[in-house]
Amino acid sequence: MTTARKRSLSSASTAEYVPETTSLGVLREAAADCRGCDLYRHATQTVFGEGRAGAPFIFVGEQPGDSEDQDGRPFVGPAGKLLRASKQEAGIDEKDVYITNAVKHFKFIERGKQRIHQTPKRIEIVACSPWLDAEILAVKPQMVVALGATAAQSLMGASFRLTQHRRELLSSPRAAHVMVTVHPSSILRAIDDAARHEQRKAFVEDLKTIAATLGELRSEPRH
Ligand code: URA
Repeated sequence: MTTARKRSLSSASTAEYVPETTSLGVLREAAADCRGCDLYRHATQTVFGEGRAGAPFIFVGEQPGDSEDQDGRPFVGPAGKLLRASKQEAGIDEKDVYITNAVKHFKFIERGKQRIHQTPKRIEIVACSPWLDAEILAVKPQMVVALGATAAQSLMGASFRLTQHRRELLSSPRAAHVMVTVHPSSILRAIDDAARHEQRKAFVEDLKTIAATLGELRSEPRH
């Protein structure tokens, strides 16, 4: 790899594209033109977060999938369907959730007519992080929920191990209150129906714990 190429990879960042604003509308418009890393080249469009400023929760996924890339909206595919049903079971209201991804473009390889998901690299996750920071500043959630390892590592650092911290209240320089759980896609990929059922049950339990923890935070006296 040439030195120039190395430099351009190590300095990939969306920071220069992120306007200084807490308007979600303005951020969304600006994100549509983001060229902060190379992922925009093959994706159909930027998939920005959805929901209202002031929502108590931000849920953060990994990156848009094939359906989201075509639709331009986060979590509209099978993982989103599972997530919505699980939130409902856990008593988390859709209108209390702003939903987004750690990385805003779909990363994939083409195999015939299929586009196969590829996990984003650390450099792409870090490059995209100014958008997530701007969303957190604009929404001002009381709790940020990371779905899966990519979102968890984006918020908590590269060495963070999700399985060791499920149902724990965490804190990061990027958000005062963070909780982590699995990505709904991992449940869809379970080896059989029995495993899928167990994993889904545990996921709903995680979401119930997350909702209860937010309730506790809200009932704590303010200083
Ligand atoms: N998986 C994600 O992480 N995000 C989406 O928006 C859809 C699937």
